[in-house]
Amino acid sequence: MAVCGEGPLEGVNMRIRILFDNYNFDDAFESSWGFSCIITMPQKTILFDTGNNEDILSANMTVAGIDIGDIDMVFISHAHWDHTGGLLALKDIKAGTPVYVIESAVDELGGQINNIEASIEAVVNPREIMPGVFSTGEMDSDYVNEHSLVVNTGMGGVLITGCAHPGIVNIVDKAMEITGEKLLLTLGGFHLKDKPPAELEKTANELNGKTLYTAPSHCTGDDARAILREKFGSRFIESGAGKTIELDKLQ
Ligand SMILES: [Fe+2]
Ligand SMILES: [Fe+2]
Repeated sequence: MAVCGEGPLEGVNMRIRILFDNYNFDDAFESSWGFSCIITMPQKTILFDTGNNEDILSANMTVAGIDIGDIDMVFISHAHWDHTGGLLALKDIKAGTPVYVIESAVDELGGQINNIEASIEAVVNPREIMPGVFSTGEMDSDYVNEHSLVVNTGMGGVLITGCAHPGIVNIVDKAMEITGEKLLLTLGGFHLKDKPPAELEKTANELNGKTLYTAPSHCTGDDARAILREKFGSRFIESGAGKTIELDKLQ
């Protein structure tokens, strides 16, 4: 499988701000179960997931200084309430803003997305959705299918996952196929809570070989975060609502 696109963006700085998370990083932000972050690049602003509640998302956006009108694209990882429940906060989004959703979730989410006058873009296979920005394509899981966002920044690949139901290592492998190299940063929900210690150890070791930095939150779980914190050392980034990650400050 190859998703060539136009190659990596040239040294594009990128800022990621966690807008919604059950882990809290900054007390000025309200925390609740779920995940959302906003990705700001010089050319585009992308909202990834919406958390579970429109009021909390709106309030946290205000604290972060985000104007809904600045959003150029929305990416919904999967059809779980804790990632889609804040969609109505986007009612003043620019008309026709594309919302990327896996094809199997379109029936479930179509009504909510039409309420905000955005434009549904169904994703099946891995594809470039704007220059340097990719969807992994719909990945299967025993629970619910999902896609994840990959940005080929020129400083290294950045992978953002919602819940990682298809398996965080499987998703990292897919992102590495897309970028053609080890990742710079992997963040989001890794869905490792309730996994046995031996599996956490194995997963943490595999991730440590495939991504330089990691910023796990949401459904990763306290035990998995502790093991990843130990394995990654200074390359572990404490994440949660209100956290800002700037790529050019990582290196
Ligand atoms: Fe989740
Ligand atoms: Fe989920």
